[in-house]
Amino acid sequence: MNVKTWLKQNKDIKKANIVLATVLKRDPAWLVTHEDYEIDVKEQVKADAGVKNLREGMPMGYVMGAVEFYGNLLRITRDVLIPRPETELVVDLALEAVKKIDSKFLKILDIGTGSGCIAISLAKKLPKARVYATDISPEALDLAMFNAKFNQAPVRFLPPTDLMRDFNPHRGYDVVVANLPYVNREWEWIDEKSLDYEPEIALYAEDEGLELIKELIDQIAERKIDKYLVLEADPCQHQNIINYAEEKAIKHLKTSGFGMLFGIKE
Ligand SMILES: C[S@@+](CC[C@H](N)C(=O)[O-])C[C@H]1O[C@@H](n2cnc3c(N)ncnc32)[C@H](O)[C@@H]1O
Repeated sequence: MNVKTWLKQNKDIKKANIVLATVLKRDPAWLVTHEDYEIDVKEQVKADAGVKNLREGMPMGYVMGAVEFYGNLLRITRDVLIPRPETELVVDLALEAVKKIDSKFLKILDIGTGSGCIAISLAKKLPKARVYATDISPEALDLAMFNAKFNQAPVRFLPPTDLMRDFNPHRGYDVVVANLPYVNREWEWIDEKSLDYEPEIALYAEDEGLELIKELIDQIAERKIDKYLVLEADPCQHQNIINYAEEKAIKHLKTSGFGMLFGIKE
């Protein structure tokens, strides 16, 4: 079968061209100028399987096994959340928080690193800084390590931990960044079908989605040693989080999209 016929057969599926182009190790634009290219049987089996998954509702990131985030190509498996474009603003907020600090003295911690997207982006932007990352999931950490190596990002991975429970209380970070699970199961607008493919531990939290975020705020407030905190949450949760943090003397400084920046120590 040639490219033209395959694309015609799958024209009802958005992004089928990207699946085929990836299988053929080409750019989607290449398909347009090579409609007569004969796809071999192996290639066709792979492309058909990808389109079947898309048809069943599997998100593109899992079908392709990779996504681009902040200009870095990341491998993605079902062990991790697919990094979302809105999380790039969280990276920007962390960079903004530390812009006045000489990067060779910087210590940054990414909690709930998942695919490693935030830590890798920060380490690439600030190669002199010490960027640490951890997650409660050992499988996620393995993948994050692979991604850091693949992108030549100097991230230091810490053993799996539950938030900052096992952290040294005398060792502070300039920025703690955390995109923790914040989906409230009661939300009616969530696309459960596509979320079904993602790990529960990466998505949902009790207490209207705020349980882990509040727990981290409690830990940070008790530590009193870190400087900035950057969190991601749905905008409908922001005011609640800001109120909770400010009760603990953690000051809200800025919001950008889903991201929130807080100042911990003056
Ligand atoms: C929403 S995902 C974010 C992943 C990645 N940072 C990103 O932005 O795409 C949340 C991550 O937090 C991790 N996680 C869940 N509970 C945790 C906990 N108690 N302590 C540390 N990490 C946790 C999950 O394994 C998951 O990788």
